[in-house]
Amino acid sequence: MNSIMQYETVSLNDEESSLVILNQTKLPNEIEILHLKTQNEIWNAIYSLQVRGAPAIGIAAAFGLYLAAKKIEANDYASFMRELRDAKDYLNSSRPTAVNLSWALNRMERTAMNHKGKSIPELRELLRREAIAIKDEDTDMCRRIGEHGLTLIHDGDGILTHCNAGQLATSKYGTALAPIHLGRERGMNFHVFCDETRPLLQGARLSTFELYADGVDTTLICDNMASQVMKNGWVNAVFVGCDRVASNGDACNKIGTSGVAILAKHYGIPFYVLAPTSTIDMSISRGEDIVIEERPSYEITEMWYSRRMAPEGIKVYNPAFDVTDHELITGIVTEFGISYPPYEESLKKIFESKQNNQQN
Ligand code: MRU
Repeated sequence: MNSIMQYETVSLNDEESSLVILNQTKLPNEIEILHLKTQNEIWNAIYSLQVRGAPAIGIAAAFGLYLAAKKIEANDYASFMRELRDAKDYLNSSRPTAVNLSWALNRMERTAMNHKGKSIPELRELLRREAIAIKDEDTDMCRRIGEHGLTLIHDGDGILTHCNAGQLATSKYGTALAPIHLGRERGMNFHVFCDETRPLLQGARLSTFELYADGVDTTLICDNMASQVMKNGWVNAVFVGCDRVASNGDACNKIGTSGVAILAKHYGIPFYVLAPTSTIDMSISRGEDIVIEERPSYEITEMWYSRRMAPEGIKVYNPAFDVTDHELITGIVTEFGISYPPYEESLKKIFESKQNNQQN
């Protein structure tokens, strides 16, 4: 059997007629590859977390929009754009919090807008190339995040992570787990503690699965055990991913992340957010302005149990994400370097480096 590390999280098939994803709702028990053709299938795959993690969602949506463009039958630019925007809005409605989704879709739309004079087949080809570029750039960004992240830890360190911000959430390497995978490639060894990450268990099902496959010394803990593990002195740093960073450094990630940050502060452990610049939303000034997705109650009461685990009719609150206050974050690791407080200034500098890099 292939290692999970050898599978692509998200890609196009050879004929470029369907989006191919590793169905993450079946992991770790079954490796199921899905071929999605319709917009409805792609929307559902994103909504139901068959493909998940901010960068992977962005890549899936970009390929999804390309597939939509292939089916648009319009003969003129205005009608083509109208249908493209309808498809874009539809895909964008699948999940509200990860900014990578709208970032990738906006990038695709801009590509079509910047080439108004082109024929419809030419526009389709440009969209194809843009979607592939979004994926390829993601691999490069993750590797660079990994390089910067590696400067923060030492061989043998204990790292605690929450949710899955690994290869399964991106095209390769991941964000929070990139330093660990990269370190493995170089013969380094880390001890990684994975919070199980209630309610959808991305830590238990996905992070442990990919780290273990990569030969990393991995220990699964329930979310409420993080304090004990930190108190034992086993954690040198916390590495988490992110779905949206506001311009003041507030970072929105999987529910439970802010609690981990509060614990880390208590125990004096550095807490790092690792995310590409596509996850930083400079149009939002603070975390309170980020829309937090709320998900159905059955994910808490029934989903992982053979029998219902709460009384019928009980009220359930199921926010998928929370916001970690910037004051709790030691640093934000991007592909253009590490940003430290005050984030209003340092994040601007990161974007300046990005702009300079694109001009060169
Ligand atoms: O609901 P999910 O599984 O999509 O949530 C994923 C996370 O919270 C990740 O930490 C985040 O998207 C970063 S992935 C590199």
